[in-house]
Amino acid sequence: MNGVKQKILKLKAEKDVCILAHSYMSEEVCSVADFVGDSYALAVKAKDAPQSVVIMCGVRFMAETVKMLSPHKRVILSNPKAGCAMAEQFDKEVILEVKKRYPDYAVVAYVNTTAELKTVADVCVTSSSAVKICRAMPEKNILFIPDINLGTYVSQKVPEKNFKLLSGGCPAHAQVEAADVLKAKSAHPDALFLVHPECRPEVVSLADYVGSTTGIMDYAEKSDKTQFIIGTENSITEHLRVKCPDKEFYPLSDRLVCGNMRITTPEDVLKCLEGTGGEEIFIDEDVRVKAVKCIERMIKLGG
Ligand code: 13P
Ligand code: SF4
Repeated sequence: MNGVKQKILKLKAEKDVCILAHSYMSEEVCSVADFVGDSYALAVKAKDAPQSVVIMCGVRFMAETVKMLSPHKRVILSNPKAGCAMAEQFDKEVILEVKKRYPDYAVVAYVNTTAELKTVADVCVTSSSAVKICRAMPEKNILFIPDINLGTYVSQKVPEKNFKLLSGGCPAHAQVEAADVLKAKSAHPDALFLVHPECRPEVVSLADYVGSTTGIMDYAEKSDKTQFIIGTENSITEHLRVKCPDKEFYPLSDRLVCGNMRITTPEDVLKCLEGTGGEEIFIDEDVRVKAVKCIERMIKLGG
């Protein structure tokens, strides 16, 4: 075990800190975490973690979600520069204007949104829970924000409801094209194609499986097939190569990289534990009280 990892594990135990890591984190960061998962699992875990301090290794909206669910805990974002390009695409005023045009539509917000934006949402969803929640909610009309690709995917899976979509999205996932899939499939004709629903509909329509970051990993691990093209951030391809050394994993595109998810290092985590780094998350209580309702509703409907 290297020195930094050893120091993290020692300090974490001494200070009774919970380290949560999103599945896009590096192998090194995941190896010091108490729990690694997708956005939905992290939200549920954050609510139940017994420790009074949580270090979130992921992006800002994930740390905000933890703080909203556990306002009495100290929540620290391990690298303050880690934002999510999609989360900050729309501000509250824009959504309020759109809501005026569709007053009888419930606002379903992808969890990749700011705390401020969640104050005007009726319910949150993640990639793994969006279909289930949109089906389960009693409202028939849904204004889905901000990801047009996830929104399109969900609207196809839940045809009994009416959807209005905004034109936001993830710059990393939205840039891959059907041509990338065809190229990867012709290079690896026996491989299954597993994709994240943040990709464009024409990319998603070519997939053998559509799911969240950990959904993709679970599918590949359990499958009796041995070759997979991975259509999400390339860290998932790297993790799968470690987890399943007997299988072959190919990235859909070299461009599937999220700079924000790549910047957190074990050294950042150590600095948080030593009190010299990271950023403690504070959320205005008025914003928190309004925003947390849609996260709690997500957990209730998502199960
Ligand atoms: P998951 O909910 O699948 O973990 O996705 C989070 C994310 O940011 C994907 O780009
Ligand atoms: Fe946000 Fe896209 Fe990065 Fe996920 S991959 S954190 S949606 S910018």
